[in-house]
Amino acid sequence: MSHGEPNSDEVQSRRFFVGGVFAFLTSMGLIVLGAFRFVVPNVLYGKNQRFKVGMPKDFPDKQATYLPEQQVFIVREGNSYAAMSAVCTHLGCTIRTDPDRPGFFCPCHGSRFKPDGTNYAGPAPKPLEAYEISVSNLGELVVDKRTLISPKERYRV
Ligand code: FES
Repeated sequence: MSHGEPNSDEVQSRRFFVGGVFAFLTSMGLIVLGAFRFVVPNVLYGKNQRFKVGMPKDFPDKQATYLPEQQVFIVREGNSYAAMSAVCTHLGCTIRTDPDRPGFFCPCHGSRFKPDGTNYAGPAPKPLEAYEISVSNLGELVVDKRTLISPKERYRV
């Protein structure tokens, strides 16, 4: 056996080793990325945080209208309006209107929120966020996600 050039068995096993190390590091990297995903909020902060949502009269009375792009519910009661976050305060799942009673329901772990956003069942630790509403020059509702208000506050048109 020569001491200079590696024989083909040595080359093969070195390739096998390098390939194994690469596969291991790749899978570890994917695991770390997967774990990191859970600590990143389910909200895109880069998006415009202040936006027009439409004319007040276009929202059905006594209903919560979901705006998926902004992850917001516009809740109308007569001439008063609220903009509620659609992000559950437990782990950030998207809530939906409760099929069984007035208010909201989180399909992930069963948290329930009253129509004003107050949490009352399940693991959610606090009420839904509520955002400031104003009206544009053309009369459209404008939601500002940068300004949190009390969930019980309503904007009257
Ligand atoms: S994320 Fe909504 S109850 Fe857990």
